[in-house]
Amino acid sequence: MSQRKPRLLSGHRPTGRLHLGHLEGTLRNWAAMQDDYECFFLIADWHALTDHFEDTSALHENVLDIAIDWIAAGLDPERSVFVLQSQVKQHAELFLLLAMTTPLSWVERCPTWKDVLAQEEMREELRSYGRLGYPVLQAADILIYKADVVPVGKDQLPHIEMTREIARRFNSLYGAVLPEPAAKLSAFPAVPGTDGRKMSKSYGNTIDLADSPDVIRRKVMSMFTDPEKIYRNDPGHPDACPVFALHNIYTPAERLAQIEADCKSGVQGCVACKQELAENLIAALAPIHARRAELEAHPEQVRQVLMEGCERARQVAEETMQEVRQAMRLPLALGG
Ligand code: TRP
Repeated sequence: MSQRKPRLLSGHRPTGRLHLGHLEGTLRNWAAMQDDYECFFLIADWHALTDHFEDTSALHENVLDIAIDWIAAGLDPERSVFVLQSQVKQHAELFLLLAMTTPLSWVERCPTWKDVLAQEEMREELRSYGRLGYPVLQAADILIYKADVVPVGKDQLPHIEMTREIARRFNSLYGAVLPEPAAKLSAFPAVPGTDGRKMSKSYGNTIDLADSPDVIRRKVMSMFTDPEKIYRNDPGHPDACPVFALHNIYTPAERLAQIEADCKSGVQGCVACKQELAENLIAALAPIHARRAELEAHPEQVRQVLMEGCERARQVAEETMQEVRQAMRLPLALGG
């Protein structure tokens, strides 16, 4: 009997430093699954080009940064495989073949475009042929490792559903090669940003894993609070306050109940409440900051992790490609 653990794949585009939303919504979740799954964590640098193709100057640095954030947050290269998409060319080959079998209407109707276009900040985004193929490339990322589960946020569910459809279609055309992955939604609530909207780089409201204690203090002190609590002694509404939402994550339960009561009764003002949050946040991030500093001092170790990860990824990906080429009856190498 095979003892193989179920295989997990997930990934990020390297478009900048990771923030608390990533940490709480994604990374803690991934880190906790490393013992139960054979994990592949993908840095999707080709996906980053789908809307950032003109200025690629930060890409290299962003790749290293995301790898550093991942390791600092608890993803463990000893147990999990770190993959840099552009260094495993099989992703491109499978993408190309799946692009042939995927109906145009599927990509045109992909619900994620609607969301992108609905957000004012994203309207300017450049659209291209490659961008339309975004979910097909994502399907290739997942199917090339025959991943069983893909932990993602709600926004990515349509892409996983399309991946399943793409696999099903491939299998019905050429024979059962590509298993359909299951999406696994993370149980964490969305983390609010400093302005109370969802924390997102495009809103400029993030607290980043790499932020120094001083930057964290400054950002927290500038946070929006309950708009009805204007004076210190006004009764507040913690449920409507992003500062309280972050206390909820970073402040111990007993103290949390006290803060809630003191805010509601008007005993606690927002300034003190924010100061307390900033210190708790700094304490919670201290181990991540320490690991980050070590890794930043040794970028060659981070590169080594990526090189070894890609090596392992290539073996798995090439095995799948051999099956795919054979199932599709593609001409084999000439000569020999
Ligand atoms: N689209 C994902 C995001 O925006 C990144 C990604 C690329 C991904 N390939 C993937 C996620 C494969 C899961 C599986 O965050």
